[in-house]
Amino acid sequence: MNTTENIRAQFPILNKQINNNALVYFDNAATVQKPKQVIEAIENYYYNSNANIHRGVHTLSRVATELFEQSRKTIASFFNVKNSQQIIFTSGTTDGLNTLVQSLSKSVLQKNSEIILSTYEHHSNILPWQLWAQHNNGKLKIIPLKENHSLDLEKLEQLITPNTKIISIAHVSNTLGLITNIEKVKEIAKKYNLIIVLDGAQSAPHMKIDLENLDVDFFVCSAHKMYGPTGIGILYMSEKWLQELPVSKVGGGTIKTVSFEKTEYEQGALRFEPGTPNISGAIGFAEAIKFTNIVGITSIYKHELDLVNYAQKQLNELPEVIQYGVSKEKAGVISFNVKNQHPFDVGSLLDKYGIAVRTGHHCTQPLMKVLNTQGTIRASFAIYNTKQELNYFIEKLKKVITMLK
Ligand SMILES: Cc1ncc(COP(=O)(O)O)c(C=O)c1O
Repeated sequence: MNTTENIRAQFPILNKQINNNALVYFDNAATVQKPKQVIEAIENYYYNSNANIHRGVHTLSRVATELFEQSRKTIASFFNVKNSQQIIFTSGTTDGLNTLVQSLSKSVLQKNSEIILSTYEHHSNILPWQLWAQHNNGKLKIIPLKENHSLDLEKLEQLITPNTKIISIAHVSNTLGLITNIEKVKEIAKKYNLIIVLDGAQSAPHMKIDLENLDVDFFVCSAHKMYGPTGIGILYMSEKWLQELPVSKVGGGTIKTVSFEKTEYEQGALRFEPGTPNISGAIGFAEAIKFTNIVGITSIYKHELDLVNYAQKQLNELPEVIQYGVSKEKAGVISFNVKNQHPFDVGSLLDKYGIAVRTGHHCTQPLMKVLNTQGTIRASFAIYNTKQELNYFIEKLKKVITMLK
């Protein structure tokens, strides 16, 4: 039975005391805690199967290769991708986006090309494009926000010019938890033949992602936000791009033959995975997917949405609190401030009660500028969080507000 109590029992760290209080971990959008089965799968790999992959004929190398490639298949199947070669291992979302920008700069992007981003992008989905634009006379165009902080997609079409090549956009805002209407983005992108890059760092942990159905060109995410380990993620690309996208990083493992004159590259995912990959990370990622499948991604979404709506309602009753991006449909994140107080002060005092929230700009400084604040307090939820924890959080938040008056 997947009761919250049973689920919590699978996360050893949740038993920790922080500052003499039970840990209340509400920083899941930064990184989520890991269940025992993920920790054990990684340990088991190093105890029993560690070897380098793909090039060895000895038994351990074959076992490690099989575990690594099986992990790719488990992840592909989770995202409903039939050809597991479309799943390329990266070190995370940031790495996936950097790799992608470099590869696209060798094919699609030309001098003066324009890329459309949204106001609520994470810095990881701004900086690689900005760096490219600075060196190539390129331009970034930004989808504005509506009053309620959701994206104003009515304005998207006006940003498109003959130089526009790509829309690169967060599926879910890491600061606000708001979900981007991808169907609407797709409709416009298809009309103008634009490439869609979807930053799924904050959607993949919370929502059913069917990449076959979603039908975007590229999708990136990080395992550590999905109950998996740090240092591993994926870059998904459509079949067309798997054949056509030029490589931007090269090295051992990506090639069929090399001479000083010419190199023939591998086909499929290996073409994009130079050097020894994060083998234990891939195995841990696949185990995290197994955990998620047992709990059920739809149950995760529902559980977190209940918490979000409960938290938004409770915060709404506190006159000292300003909330950002309030919505009934969100993916596990709320963001707020206490009027006239610095978010760091509120966060530090909550920490004294064992409550872990994130404070600051959340790597979305352009969004902060639009919200007219230097930072916010972000509480983000996972499957193991409870209403009791939220009640405790609200009780202590009220106390902190009184202390700071
Ligand atoms: C929307 C979004 N994009 C990209 C990233 C970067 O992810 P990573 O640090 O795992 O590379 C994050 C991390 O918080 C994120 O929330």
